[in-house]
Amino acid sequence: MVREIVKYGSKVLRQPCAPVTQIDPSVKALVRDLFDSMGAAEGVGLAAPQLGVLRRIVVVDVSRQHPELLPISLINPRIVSAEGRETAEEGCLSFPDMYGQVPRHTKVSVEALDINGKQFTVDAEGFYARALQHELDHLDGKLFIDYLSPLKRQLIRGKLKTLKNEGERWDLEHSQA
Ligand code: NI
Repeated sequence: MVREIVKYGSKVLRQPCAPVTQIDPSVKALVRDLFDSMGAAEGVGLAAPQLGVLRRIVVVDVSRQHPELLPISLINPRIVSAEGRETAEEGCLSFPDMYGQVPRHTKVSVEALDINGKQFTVDAEGFYARALQHELDHLDGKLFIDYLSPLKRQLIRGKLKTLKNEGERWDLEHSQA
């Protein structure tokens, strides 16, 4: 099911996510929703907190850029090795039409569980490695704007302020009060 992607300004994007302890039907449904929502938005990755769920689950799909790489879901992912450094432009589905230069490792190995609870490792480089690092950051409440230079942040301040209202609206609509 395609769900609304939470925008910048919502508290859920700044909170650390809890590890998945059991891959139950709710986890499988969430993975499907992540794929559906990422696909509808034509994104290359999406993390559970972007659907308002504070669990350590992400999906990545760089198959438009690299047809040989299949879309994957990663549960409780963690970077086990990293090398190199490269700065390139990045965006995020929680920040429509906003981009900035972000430094990332050029190569990473990520360990995770698949949808059946089986552990696997993905070795990625370049754009794929960048997408993985971006999504894993989301699980710790870290966003790509955190890496931008003070000057760039100043330049996009107005856009961020407008966007923040959308995130805050989501919080109001989903508050447990
Ligand atoms: Ni993002």
